[in-house]
Amino acid sequence: MNRVRNFKLILWMILGLGAAVATARFMFGLGVTTNLSDRTPWGLWIGFDVMSGVALAAGGFVLTATVYIFKLDKFHSIVRPAVLTAFLGYAAVAVGLLFDLGLPWNIWHMIIFWNPHSALFEVGWCVMLYLTVLLLEFFPVPAEEFGFLSKIRNFLIRLRLPLVIAGIALSTLHQSSLGSLFLIMPYNLHPLWYSPILPVVFFISAIGLGLMMVTFESLFTAWLYRRKPEMELLERLGAAARWVFLLYLAVRLGDLAVRGQLVHLGGGEWQVGMFWVELAIAVVIPTVLLFIRAVRRSPAGLMTVAITSVTGIVLNRINVGGLVHINRGDTLYLPAWTEIAITSAVIAGAAVVFLFMVEKFNVWERRPADPDAEPTRKPKFHPVDGSWLGEPGIAARTKYSLGFIIAAAIGFALLSGGPVESRGVDPTPARMARGGDTLWIDGNLDGYGTSFPHLEHIRRNGGGRSCVKCHHMNLPHDRNSACYQCHSDMYLRTDAFRHDRHSSPTGANLACTECHVKGQVRNVESAKRCDECHNDLVPPGSSIKVKQYRAVSYTEAMHRTCIGCHTIVATSKDKPDLSRCTTCHKGQRNVTDATVLASQKRRLIGKRMVLPPIYRK
Ligand code: HEC
Ligand code: HEC
Ligand code: HEC
Ligand code: HEC
Ligand code: HEC
Ligand code: HEC
Repeated sequence: MNRVRNFKLILWMILGLGAAVATARFMFGLGVTTNLSDRTPWGLWIGFDVMSGVALAAGGFVLTATVYIFKLDKFHSIVRPAVLTAFLGYAAVAVGLLFDLGLPWNIWHMIIFWNPHSALFEVGWCVMLYLTVLLLEFFPVPAEEFGFLSKIRNFLIRLRLPLVIAGIALSTLHQSSLGSLFLIMPYNLHPLWYSPILPVVFFISAIGLGLMMVTFESLFTAWLYRRKPEMELLERLGAAARWVFLLYLAVRLGDLAVRGQLVHLGGGEWQVGMFWVELAIAVVIPTVLLFIRAVRRSPAGLMTVAITSVTGIVLNRINVGGLVHINRGDTLYLPAWTEIAITSAVIAGAAVVFLFMVEKFNVWERRPADPDAEPTRKPKFHPVDGSWLGEPGIAARTKYSLGFIIAAAIGFALLSGGPVESRGVDPTPARMARGGDTLWIDGNLDGYGTSFPHLEHIRRNGGGRSCVKCHHMNLPHDRNSACYQCHSDMYLRTDAFRHDRHSSPTGANLACTECHVKGQVRNVESAKRCDECHNDLVPPGSSIKVKQYRAVSYTEAMHRTCIGCHTIVATSKDKPDLSRCTTCHKGQRNVTDATVLASQKRRLIGKRMVLPPIYRK
């Protein structure tokens, strides 16, 4: 069984590499392990792991439907591997998502915090439910080996039909809802891929892909374990697949024609080339080959077809999921090697589990599968020729572990540098608000800001006494310092104390001992208090008690001040709109608002703020 061992060794090495990258991903974040950005937030992991994982699993529902609903019993012998593949495909989706989510530990939120208006909500629930259904569908197989599970097993077998129906319903819903997901982002997708019938297109191609995946997995494991492939069945699957492919081709091109999008094919964009490549390898070449009888009958021929079309349809998902997103942007997204390493590791992990299941349990049903038969312990025999497989043996395990560790070490070696010296979030210095009585607050000068009736707020909040409600701390020798002078970064906490400036020769040029007592721990408690040198930093009556000198980000300083007070006023004066985002953010709604905003901004910028004399102290 050298072939199996070598293959497993490779899988373990991929897992090792993936483990190294995964460590970096969870320690240092997405920024350093992916080429994703705010403009291209979905890339290989969504396009491949999630979108394709789900599509690959389509074999599960196609075959369970064939066997248990349409009662085509001859396909029975490939149902178990298909269900197992589907289960692992979905498990890969879940694992892949953990890497892609910014806050993966919140993944359970959708179970409790429902947002039924969200397409992602549906996708998430479908994945969870279908994963459960697949688990229940497959559970009887390993349960055969354990006598004490026989009750549960028999119960699940009796439940099979409802489970199969639930599985079909869920995955139909899901295959297509992945398509619907993209319907809500028309401008993100290239017109050659965007279509109102994307859910239908996804569904049809998922069936084709499911058939091809079952074929691939059968032929490959047959080769791996030197087993005789179920050629007769696979030939039938191939025969069915060509009609699915033809239907897909017709729907895809017909849809483009009906919507008048075929003109795009004349354009010289690189997406057009991508479109043709995708269509050719996903359906055109496989269909042509499948119409040749000799191809359908030969394992090599079928394997070629399966590999081509699986690659093609996976490419389709990657295109929809991420690649052609570039349509809208300036930057070209290409996955980083670390993204590819994680993706490969997720697949390798699924493959290791698959092989484990196949070797330990009766997945291929070489024994008669009588549901009522007493569970028997299966000796570890080769599924076909009956030779003793035995445990992998110490030698093999040592080899796998060694492969894993070496690959992980290489992974860490390759990682060093960038990820470890992560820059973190880029600083965005905050700028001063401009304008007259009304200020234009736009700390990062990105054009989206809020207009703030400063004078009106002074009037409404107590005139001269109001200042400290917002201006809670000032620079030395100053009154009502602008917030950006301490909250000096748009999104990051910053140092308002400026430790370096105090002791630097170009700044206050103080000796350390001016503030720190020799021999004592140097921290905020032991240092000399600010007001021993500055008596004007914190004005009397200030609303915020300053306990340390790390000032919150500009955005947060604004939000806590503005929204904090507005929420109180909103409830006390019964003006619910006051605390809503759009009271302050008028421009982020739609284009017309943005135009209004631009003119408002023009009016405000360039004016000088002149506070009436009564407010100048
Ligand atoms: C009472 C006024 C007010 C309310 C209500 C308010 N904001 Fe803000 N918000 C501000 C101010 C002022 C800024 C700073 C604007 C700037 O510098 O561009 C800001 C900044 C932001 C920024 C950063 C802008 C940028 O350019 O990066 C975001 C994002 C934001 N707010 C979102 C929201 C959301 C979401 C809500 C509703 C939950 C909300 N805000 C409610 C006043 C408000
Ligand atoms: C509702 C909160 C609020 C109140 C009340 C308030 N201010 Fe302001 N003030 C601000 C904000 C926000 C800015 C803009 C800060 C920035 O540019 O980062 C500002 C800016 C200023 C500036 C401009 C700073 C500069 O260097 O350009 C002055 C001066 C000022 N306020 C004086 C006052 C005085 C005097 C009072 C009391 C009579 C007062 N403010 C009351 C929130 C307030
Ligand atoms: C001289 C520096 C300085 C100026 C000027 C300043 N702040 Fe602050 N601010 C701080 C520091 C330091 C903290 C942190 C206090 C703490 O966490 O104990 C802080 C904290 C805050 C907080 C968070 C309070 C909390 O609940 O944790 C808000 C809100 C805030 N500032 C708003 C403002 C606004 C609005 C302005 C302008 C009107 C302003 N600040 C001007 C230094 C300043
Ligand atoms: C103006 C007063 C002042 C001077 C001068 C000063 N320090 Fe500090 N130092 C502080 C305060 C206040 C803190 C606490 C800062 C905080 O927690 O935000 C501090 C904190 C520290 C810390 C702990 C830093 C940390 O992150 O916890 C060290 C170390 C330190 N100072 C060393 C020095 C040395 C060395 C010098 C001379 C070059 C010096 N300080 C000069 C006031 C001062
Ligand atoms: C030993 C006396 C002393 C102590 C204690 C002290 N400072 Fe200062 N600070 C100075 C001197 C001197 C300057 C520079 C001259 C000036 O601007 O007044 C300065 C300047 C500053 C500045 C302006 C820095 C700049 O970039 O221009 C800030 C802000 C400041 N101090 C905050 C604080 C805070 C907050 C504390 C308490 C943690 C503190 N200081 C404690 C003496 C002191
Ligand atoms: C101390 C409380 C307080 C703070 C802090 C405050 N506001 Fe207000 N704001 C009010 C009150 C009170 C009104 C008037 C409500 C009314 O009666 O209509 C108001 C009204 C407004 C309005 C609507 C003006 C109009 O008539 O349409 C805007 C916009 C606004 N605030 C923005 C801001 C922004 C931006 C900030 C933060 C920089 C802020 N407010 C901070 C109390 C506050």
